[in-house]
Amino acid sequence: MKKLVFIPGSLRSASASLATVWALTELLGEDVDCAVAEPGCLPHYNADVLNSPEVEAFCDQITSSDGLVFVTPEYNYSIPGVLKNAIDWASRPALQSPFKGKPCFVISVSGGALGGVRAQSHLKYVLNGMLADVYTCPEIVIPNANQKIANGRLSDDAFFSFAMPKLRAFVEALP
Ligand SMILES: Cc1cc2nc3c(=O)[nH]c(=O)nc-3n(C[C@H](O)[C@H](O)[C@H](O)COP(=O)(O)O)c2cc1C
Repeated sequence: MKKLVFIPGSLRSASASLATVWALTELLGEDVDCAVAEPGCLPHYNADVLNSPEVEAFCDQITSSDGLVFVTPEYNYSIPGVLKNAIDWASRPALQSPFKGKPCFVISVSGGALGGVRAQSHLKYVLNGMLADVYTCPEIVIPNANQKIANGRLSDDAFFSFAMPKLRAFVEALP
């Protein structure tokens, strides 16, 4: 069974990003082993911190996964600091990190009309810099995401019709 780790870019309990993660993991069903990382558990990046169990667990989660699915909001035209902090922790050693060659699928979310497409572009740029294997497909964005949440899940059939075939194709292509 393929193992996916979802990495949300938001910590808030009513997050549209998290609501999207939960909806996607349910739609993927029992054929895929899905776990959700907790970037909020990590300390601020500091190269002097050598033995953080949270950092070790996060890096192990990435290493042991077959692929990563990022679902992130856009903050000030880029990715949230909490997501960048998590990525920075798992980015060492440079060019040999757990991200090297790791298949990555990116979804962005926003309360506005552009669906966080600028954050998505920044995230893909960062992932490319770590030699991650970023899945190529038309940008998958969720505009006006906060209006599309019901019972803690994203509720947007048009989005699922567009995104699920691509996410399934990503899973199928995992080595
Ligand atoms: C600090 C901050 C900066 C934001 N900057 C942007 C932005 O640049 N572009 C945008 O579309 N939305 C922006 N938003 C709105 C977020 O897209 C919206 O709050 C979204 O719901 C956050 O994701 P979440 O629901 O997963 O927490 C910003 C929100 C915050 C809190």
